[in-house]
Amino acid sequence: MNILVVGGGGREHAIAYSLSKSPLINKLIVAPGNPGIETFAKCYPIAAEDIGGQCKLAKNIKADIVFIGPEIPLVLGLKNKLSEIGINAFGPSKEAAQLEGSKTFSRNFCKRYNIPQPNFKYCSDLKTAKDQIELLNGYCVVKADGLAAGKGVVVCDTVNEAINASTQMLEDNKFGDAGKSILIEERITGIEASLFAVSDGETAILLGTAQDHKRANDNDQGPNTGGMGAISPAPALNEELNKNIFNNIIMPTINGMRSDGIPYEGILYAGVMLTDQGPKVIEFNCRFGDPETQVVLPRLSTDLVDIIQNTVTNNLENTSIDLIDNTAITVVIASKGYPGTFTKGIELPSLNKFDKRKNIIIFHSGTAKNDNEDLISSGGRVLSVTAIGDNVQDCRQKAYDIVEEINWDKGFFRSDIGKL
Ligand code: AMP
Ligand code: GLY
Repeated sequence: MNILVVGGGGREHAIAYSLSKSPLINKLIVAPGNPGIETFAKCYPIAAEDIGGQCKLAKNIKADIVFIGPEIPLVLGLKNKLSEIGINAFGPSKEAAQLEGSKTFSRNFCKRYNIPQPNFKYCSDLKTAKDQIELLNGYCVVKADGLAAGKGVVVCDTVNEAINASTQMLEDNKFGDAGKSILIEERITGIEASLFAVSDGETAILLGTAQDHKRANDNDQGPNTGGMGAISPAPALNEELNKNIFNNIIMPTINGMRSDGIPYEGILYAGVMLTDQGPKVIEFNCRFGDPETQVVLPRLSTDLVDIIQNTVTNNLENTSIDLIDNTAITVVIASKGYPGTFTKGIELPSLNKFDKRKNIIIFHSGTAKNDNEDLISSGGRVLSVTAIGDNVQDCRQKAYDIVEEINWDKGFFRSDIGKL
């Protein structure tokens, strides 16, 4: 089978790595890919958002399935465009991807289907926003409706803070069109966890769970990032909670989307908060998480190609998914300054010596090669060091030993990933 993976970060490295283990693969192509992926798959320098370019490539390489990694091409409708030229894609359609692409769509959808979530108010003008903020005494969450590269959510303690955030979005155009309308949400409390389900529109199966570490610094301090590390399974979840979330959040979402005429196919990422009143939806994402994929997929013992093939042919009913009963932890090494400004193009130490290390995988998140073919940094998050082990302690030890050995002094990392 010929598979094209769209994307070029740590998540796509982990996806391609899993796919590459399958005996069903004939050609594995990734666009744009990265130097880590290049060691085992052919990469083409086509941006993930270049819908026309990706369709052309998929056709040229005679792709049987296109696995769309990031949210932007999904929200832009890459699946729909591929379908027009007769190519199957793993991932939701443009319409279904609104579950991530529009927070208003997602909240209204959950409300209609009684899926547990915080109360919210839609605001397209500052007056409505201010009234709602005052009603909540400023203890609220302000969210830009559209995609804002993970920066469109401001968790507020005071009226002033919330009004400032709303003003920046609604009047100062901080996130462009994505912030033209906003939500003011009730601020709920509890431990957060992420669940990853795969669906063909009808059947859904839980693929795994993880806990992300979103703040830049130890002890959840500092600014929000895309994720500085993750652990799988999510320590806060257990069989019973997984069942509860599957039955009360995931299945009602899949069923609701189908009844609305927009069946949801692909990965459904449910970010939940475990509150005193039970699990509630914080957000839905329409794809795998980054860096969560770097801990979820290495624990999968079922062939990923089988799973995606059964999804695109609406045959998930006959698929069983097995996870290895172990733990995985990934520690992200980021450029100093991230998520603010940082310098790109800094040389990285050679990583070849880690290739043969057992139960260690170094995923590339933001790397490139310079004219001399040296490995350099090219993004905020640069590497994602995954360790697989029998327990949390064992994984932490292994992952941090490697991070110390890489010893990249232009980067930083959190030292408490997976710490219980
Ligand atoms: P998101 O970008 O939607 O994942 O939001 C980023 C973070 O904001 C989440 O991981 C939560 O910690 C927090 N958050 C979002 N919505 C709420 C809410 N309604 N109540 C409390 N915290 C929230
Ligand atoms: N790590 C959070 C995300 O992928 O959205």
